[in-house]
Amino acid sequence: MPHTEAVVREVLRLWPPTWLMGRAAVRPTTPGEWEPGPEGQVMFSPYLPHRDPRWWPAADVLDPDRRLDPRRAPHKHSYVPFGAGPRVCVGTRPGAGLRRALPAGDPVPPAPALATGNR
Ligand code: HEM
Repeated sequence: MPHTEAVVREVLRLWPPTWLMGRAAVRPTTPGEWEPGPEGQVMFSPYLPHRDPRWWPAADVLDPDRRLDPRRAPHKHSYVPFGAGPRVCVGTRPGAGLRRALPAGDPVPPAPALATGNR
């Protein structure tokens, strides 16, 4: 894995842009102390498993090297910046490819101009 990709993965771990996702319970479940009930809505944040020291030693440290060592592969579902399951992000590959759009060493590109006003 190129070092740049390891950096991007770490950035998405520490600062997941989609920090809250939702699901409907399709069968009885008890996440933690909650019982959402049939069809209950469950919100969850990838921020929590991404910073859980059970899966990520020194969890708050941006450490690209941890991504370069195959012996330190993340536990399944401890890393979900693109979601998981049937509704996983369809742009996972393009999303990971964002790094290629950023030439190494360049500053963050300016935000595109927003169209404003009603038409
Ligand atoms: C760093 C970049 C990106 C991040 C962090 C990201 C993250 C996510 C997340 C967290 C979800 C919800 C998944 C879930 O509920 O399990 C999602 C859904 C989705 N993403 Fe992305 N995404 C990125 C880039 C893209 C790109 C480039 C595209 C389009 C090419 C895209 C298209 C979609 C679509 C269509 C869904 C809805 C999938 C569904 O509900 O079936 N994403 N994304």
